[in-house]
Amino acid sequence: MRRVTLGVLLVLLAGTAGAQTTAGAPVPFIGGDPERGRLVFATCRTCHYTDPRQGHGNGPNLHRIFGKVAGQQPGFDYYSAPLRAAGFVWTPQALYTWLENPMQATPGTTMMSYGVPDPGDRADLIAYLQQVSVLEFEE
Ligand code: HEC
Repeated sequence: MRRVTLGVLLVLLAGTAGAQTTAGAPVPFIGGDPERGRLVFATCRTCHYTDPRQGHGNGPNLHRIFGKVAGQQPGFDYYSAPLRAAGFVWTPQALYTWLENPMQATPGTTMMSYGVPDPGDRADLIAYLQQVSVLEFEE
């Protein structure tokens, strides 16, 4: 019992440390499993497409999201003012931190989601989004 609690604590600590990582610190989302991430993404899929041919849904398209400035994708008209003004670039680290609690990270966001509180699930989700971002979708 004690050991389990300690394990959970360590995972939580690793997640926190990673969220404020500086060069050299362990990066918790490296090594995520994209196949598991595909399943984690099921809760996002009601609002977000990852195939660029499908365009935006209730939420903006997430194909090649990494490297884009938050809240600025052309053709998506429903960004909240706070996200539009946020001005940061989506890196895996930024998404890892944000997804822990989007409504707290961006107060006033129109994304009605509790995010992905579990650090392992977030790592898998990021691996999945990285994988779909390199797919060309030429069928
Ligand atoms: C109920 C619909 C809904 C769900 C479910 C949802 N989102 Fe969103 N998402 C949105 C909306 C709407 C926005 C725009 C938010 C804003 O402007 O404040 C958004 C924005 C985003 C952005 C920023 C995109 C950009 O262009 O800056 C990311 C990244 C994102 N969502 C990821 C996710 C992930 C990952 C999940 C699953 C854990 C998820 N979302 C679940 C509706 C949703």
